[in-house]
Amino acid sequence: MIKVSLISLGCAKNLVDSEIMIGHLHQAGMTVIPDAEKADVVIVNTCSFIDSSKAESIGHILEVHQNKGMKKRRKEQKLIVAGCMSQRFSKDLSNSLHDEVDAFIGLDQVTKVAPIIEAIYAKERGKKEAPINFIEGKSTYIPDYDTPRFRLTPKHFAYIKIAEGCNHPCTFCIIPQIRGRHRSRTVDSVVQEARRLVAEGVKEINLISQDTTFFGMDTWEQRPNPRTPVDSSRGTALTTLLRELNAIPGDFWIRLLYTHPAHWSDELIRTIAECPKVARYIDIPLQHISDAMLTRMQRETSGDYIRDLLKRIRAGIPGIAIRTTFIVGFPGETDADVAELCGFIRETKFERLGVFRYSQEEGTRGAKMENQIPAKVKEARWHQTMALQQQIAAEVSKSHVGRTLKVLVEEPGVARGEADAPDIDGRVYVPRELAVGEFVNVAITGFQDYDLLALPEGQKPAEYKVARRAQ
Ligand code: F3S
Repeated sequence: MIKVSLISLGCAKNLVDSEIMIGHLHQAGMTVIPDAEKADVVIVNTCSFIDSSKAESIGHILEVHQNKGMKKRRKEQKLIVAGCMSQRFSKDLSNSLHDEVDAFIGLDQVTKVAPIIEAIYAKERGKKEAPINFIEGKSTYIPDYDTPRFRLTPKHFAYIKIAEGCNHPCTFCIIPQIRGRHRSRTVDSVVQEARRLVAEGVKEINLISQDTTFFGMDTWEQRPNPRTPVDSSRGTALTTLLRELNAIPGDFWIRLLYTHPAHWSDELIRTIAECPKVARYIDIPLQHISDAMLTRMQRETSGDYIRDLLKRIRAGIPGIAIRTTFIVGFPGETDADVAELCGFIRETKFERLGVFRYSQEEGTRGAKMENQIPAKVKEARWHQTMALQQQIAAEVSKSHVGRTLKVLVEEPGVARGEADAPDIDGRVYVPRELAVGEFVNVAITGFQDYDLLALPEGQKPAEYKVARRAQ
C-alpha cells in the first residue's frame, strides 16, 4: 500500500486543498502518514503569496529531498509539488528543481492526486527528463459538499471554502493570477456541508474565500460595479447564505473571514445583527486609508467610503470586533500617508489589527511602479504602526476585565472568544481543566497585551484553587 505524507503551507484556503487531497488519497486506499521520512510519496502543498512564502516552500522541498538522500531505503521516494507556487511557477521550477521534484500539480488537480501518483509510478522517468507537469491551464475548480475531504483542523472547528478565485485588481497581489476568476458554490452546497459538520460536533464554522462578500455575485446576470448594494433577492448572496446557516439547529459560531470593504452593504450589516450564530467579528482587510494609496493599490474604495462603512458596521452590529490588515511601504507612500494611517488607527481603535511590510512581487503591477520604498523605511513604518496598535490592543483587552465572555476551549488552558479567529488573533487563558472543544462562559480577570486571563463564570480565583485541590 502506498504511504503518502503531505506538508501543508500557506493559508486556510490551501489547507482546505490539502484536506481534499488527503480525502481523495484515503478514498483510493492509500495511507497518509505524518512522518515524511517514512513515506513513499511526499506532497508539498506550497504558498506563493510573497517572497518569504516562496522561500519557505522551496526550503521544505529541499529538506524533503535531502532527507530522502540520507535514507538509502527511501531513495526511490517520490516528491510532488502542489499548491499556489506550483500553479504559478511550475515551468521555471522545473529547471531549478529538476533533480529534486518528480511532478508538479496545480490547484485543479487536488481531486486527481491518487491517479497522478499511480501515473508517476507507471512512468519510469529518465535522468535527463524534466519533472512531469500535470497542470492544465488556469484554475477553474471549486469543491462541493460531497467532495471527499479529511479535516486537518481540531474536531471543534472547520473551514468551509464558499468560493474560489478573485476578480479584484489589487496592484500588490498575485493571488488572482494564481487562483483564477471568482466562482461561488451554491447556497445549498455550503449549507449541506455545514449541516454535516455541525452534526459531527463542529462548534465553529469559518467561511473562507478570496473575497467572502463577493459570494454569489459572479452568478448574477450583470456583474455589479463594486458599490452595487447586495440584493439577496438575486438568489445566491452572502446574506441568504448567512440566514440559512444561522437556521441550522445547534450551538455553534459562524465566522466570516476575508471580506472586501467594496462589497459590504446595509443588508449584510442587518443580516449579521439579526443572526446570533454569526460571530460578532468581521475580518475586513483595508490595506490603507490614504486616498492616494488606495488608488495606487486599486482597492476600489476611498478613505471617506471606508470611514463611513466602519461607522455603519459599528452602529448596526453592537459589540462587533473589527479585524483588519494594512500594508505599509507600498510604492509612493509618503510620511503624510503614514501619518494619516496612524491617525485612522488611533481613531478607529481596531480590536484586531495586523500590519504587513509591502513585498515587491514579480508579476504584479505594484512591482513595476516607481518610487519603491527602501526596506529600512518600510521597517520603521511597520514598527511605528505596530507599536501604536500594541497600546490600543492593551486598552481593548483592559476594557474586557470584569466582563463575562463565551469562549471555545481550544486546547488545555487556552480558549478563544468570538473576537479571536483560529491561528490569527489573541487567546483567552483559562484553567487547564476545562474541556477542550466545548463552549464555556468565563469571567475575564486580567490581560496580557493581546491576550485575556479568565476563570469559569461564578468562580473567584481563591475558590477555583480550592476546587482544583479538591479534585
Ligand atoms: Fe493562500 Fe499563499 Fe495561495 S496565502 S491563496 S496559499 S499564495
